[in-house]
Amino acid sequence: MCGIIGYLGTQPAAEIVLGGLKRLEHLGYDSAGLATVADGQLHVRRAVGRLDGLAEALAAEPAPGTLGIGHTRWATHGRPSQENAHPHVDAAGRIALVHNGVIENHAAIRSFLEGQGVRFRSETDTESLAQLIGFFYSQTGDLLGSVRGALREARGTFGIAVACADAADTLIAARRGSPLIIGTGRDELIVASDAAALVGRVSQVTHLEDNEVVLLGPGGLRAVTVDAKPIEKQLEPLEASLEEASLGGYAHHMQKEIFEQPDALRNAMRGRVRPGADRVTLGGLKSFERELPRFRRALLFGCGTSWHAALIGEYLLEELAGISTEVEYASELRYRNPLIQEGTVAIALSQSGETADTIAALREVQSRGAVTLGIVNGVGSTIARETDAGVYLHAGPEIGVASTKAFTAQIAVLAMIALDLGRRRHLSPERTAELIDELAAIPEKVTKALELDGQAKRLAQRLVDRQNWLYLGRGVNFPTALEGALKLKEVSYVHAEGLPAAEMKHGPLAMIDAGMPVIVIAPQDRTYEKVLANIREVKSREGRVIAVASEGDERIAELADEVLFVPRTSPLLAPLVATIPLQLLSYHAALARGHDVDKPRNLAKSVTE
Ligand code: M6R
Repeated sequence: MCGIIGYLGTQPAAEIVLGGLKRLEHLGYDSAGLATVADGQLHVRRAVGRLDGLAEALAAEPAPGTLGIGHTRWATHGRPSQENAHPHVDAAGRIALVHNGVIENHAAIRSFLEGQGVRFRSETDTESLAQLIGFFYSQTGDLLGSVRGALREARGTFGIAVACADAADTLIAARRGSPLIIGTGRDELIVASDAAALVGRVSQVTHLEDNEVVLLGPGGLRAVTVDAKPIEKQLEPLEASLEEASLGGYAHHMQKEIFEQPDALRNAMRGRVRPGADRVTLGGLKSFERELPRFRRALLFGCGTSWHAALIGEYLLEELAGISTEVEYASELRYRNPLIQEGTVAIALSQSGETADTIAALREVQSRGAVTLGIVNGVGSTIARETDAGVYLHAGPEIGVASTKAFTAQIAVLAMIALDLGRRRHLSPERTAELIDELAAIPEKVTKALELDGQAKRLAQRLVDRQNWLYLGRGVNFPTALEGALKLKEVSYVHAEGLPAAEMKHGPLAMIDAGMPVIVIAPQDRTYEKVLANIREVKSREGRVIAVASEGDERIAELADEVLFVPRTSPLLAPLVATIPLQLLSYHAALARGHDVDKPRNLAKSVTE
């Protein structure tokens, strides 16, 4: 996903657009650009690389005006270059456009326009849309009509903001499949692809739905469909605060978000989990009160870290709720032939709520009659709006590309859902109350686990030259191992693999050589003795074992080369604490290698296309 912003107000637009782009940089960071409108002209500045390049271009040649659009790019069509950076401008130089998404029929549009004598300048799909709007506009002079006309021709997905050299007081935005939020402030209107760009400037927002086009102008906000039917948009308060979106004294968002986990977990459980109670209260499922006991099968899906959380959910739902559970990569589910029987609840997991594969999988299972729930952090996001019901994470904005606090919040929410469903079936009040007490104690235990920061840092520095790592776990900690490996890969670019510890003998053991770091998650649960045997296997091949173990476990201290001790908890909740040292280790491993942890190479925060 790329970051988009558009500003219309009374302040210098370039400054505000650049400030907004800084807050969106985690969504794309290989090139950036902006266009303002003043004196009947477009003023376009673009630069390859991080936003500093664009800031320098603006310092050298300021862009005047109080209307502007901007974009920070994560390249999909066309390499990162100045020509491919947004905004794209039509041949007559009257229309500028920033775009998130993919115009699937761009080749056909391009060939039609080239046939009309239009000259293209970039390799992007986006330029075809800018040129098509410009082509219609040159014939009609009707800006809104030209945008709608072009969008009716376009296939694929878009979130766009459009500026016109002839209209210094009019900004147009539209959406199909790519998120856009409009914020209203004092004397200003802002459109952005993510609420992070609006925080601190506006207090009220409205989310665009698919095929909606809004015209922002002196009269405020006017919305119509692509087919010109008027729409009433409701404004709602913007929940995120400036403090949440800033670094607040931490060096990186990833670090801040790791350390925010005790609070994020408290927020995820607030009003839902009460120590001493024998039921959880999930307001988001209230409308489902009657269906809940009828679910016989759960189908969980998501991507990346959300998929790992779903795998943990499988253990929780089977163990606590007694519901047969399957977990799918959303990217695979959407192209399969999923069989949805009566009594199936399909649960979409997503931090952003905007991941394209997860949205597509959701729509696929809905079209087959599944009842759907969302476990989502992004308030008002597409998945939150399109699922039948759901439970928000309330973890606060997650900006670091590596997901951390959303992962533990997802596990907490899955545990609450499993307890809720379980209690409506066979789970006794005593067992439920015991687990509720354990859940309520988790934030404190996570705080304790965060004290491992210094040890994780020293360890990461000692292992800085190791290029292959293994992560092993069993049962509910197998997904914890997968997540540990993913965190390391994405921020430190070190090869890491997560495995169920028992699978080692079936092949991967051959990879172990002297000094290879093998991270073993080994709480004292029913798989403990087996995991100790796995550690011996690794040790006898000279692997270097780093165990994540329960406080006070002396046996493991004798076997492993190093132990990261975490507080004890119920075996099913162990991933909530075991994951903390793994996150810290990845963070410090990336720093030790000199990487930008918040913006790892080739990645963006959300994959919306
Ligand atoms: O926003 P989502 O949870 O849907 O995102 C899914 C994945 O793209 C995401 O978890 C990704 O794997 C993270 N970078 C992992 O840290």
